[in-house]
Amino acid sequence: MYTEKVMDHFQNPRNVGEIEDASGVGTVGNAKCGDIMRMYLDIDEDGVIRDCKFKTFGCGAAVATSSMATELVIGKTIQEAMQVTNKAVMEALDGLPPVKVHCSLLAEEAIHAALWDYAQKKGISIEGLEKPKSDIHEDEEQEEEY
Ligand code: FES
Repeated sequence: MYTEKVMDHFQNPRNVGEIEDASGVGTVGNAKCGDIMRMYLDIDEDGVIRDCKFKTFGCGAAVATSSMATELVIGKTIQEAMQVTNKAVMEALDGLPPVKVHCSLLAEEAIHAALWDYAQKKGISIEGLEKPKSDIHEDEEQEEEY
């Protein structure tokens, strides 16, 4: 069911942990499965992502996609990191079963949420970046709508 790369990243996830004083932190969740992912970014003055770490409370595919996503964004500029979509992460993992595609979306959303946090702190705007929909910190305001 899973490719070797997915199994490898699930069993030996890279870049697990937290970054103290991170440039940006994003936490997203999937309401249906209840899984949560948090990404930390360390971005230098040139806008290059020096480090990225994650914590995922979720399924194996979510762990594997967040692990791969961290590897894909480290060393990239912010604009390049914007290209790390869930499709790119899935391709790098040689694919995911269709029922697990939503797990890879969490990785993309977590990167975007962390970039959004960074942009907020810096007072800048990042081209193509929209306010994260499922950022856990933002959810409080939306609760009444349900
Ligand atoms: Fe929820 Fe995979 S089942 S993220």
